[in-house]
Amino acid sequence: MDLREHVRGIPDFPKPGILFYDISTLLRHGPAWRTAMARLAALIAPYRPDLLAGIESRGFLVAAPLALELGLGFVMLRKPRKLPGLTLGLNYALEYGTDRIEMQADAVQPGQRVILLDDLLATGGTMAAGIALLRQAGAEVPAAAALIELTFLGGRQRLDVPFESLLAYES
Ligand code: PRP
Ligand code: MG
Repeated sequence: MDLREHVRGIPDFPKPGILFYDISTLLRHGPAWRTAMARLAALIAPYRPDLLAGIESRGFLVAAPLALELGLGFVMLRKPRKLPGLTLGLNYALEYGTDRIEMQADAVQPGQRVILLDDLLATGGTMAAGIALLRQAGAEVPAAAALIELTFLGGRQRLDVPFESLLAYES
């Protein structure tokens, strides 16, 4: 199955000049979504994760089914002030301004192997911040992965772990 047929490029969203790769059509198609999750599970299994983590919000759509597929637990990296209890957080730079992600301080046991997942890797800023936050919590991060990678933005060069993706777009 060619998963590319299930991802749409929508021009000028969210602003003029940006081609937005929309996974809604992939999510909507049962067999294609199942295939995507099975293929991504096969790509990350060799890194022998103990736990998966996903980045709010579209990263949750990927991390939760993969955790089920691999029989693992799943940790949420969330936008600020969403998680109860003691949290760890990390601010990171965007093209314009800054953002912040948080996780529960007790979410990971020291040395646990946690693979970080998102729907899409663009500049890599979000993924790099997530990896740094997981390490702050004591995790080892053997790899990161996403459904889609925008190779022309060079995101994987910002990561210091192996990165796996199902679909790469060069423009
Ligand atoms: C998008 C996407 C990734 C991130 C990639 O999330 O889902 O998380 O941007 O960009 P980067 O590699 O340049 O950091 P967005 O902030 O749009 O939020 P959402 O997942 O809640 O829709
Ligand atoms: Mg996101």
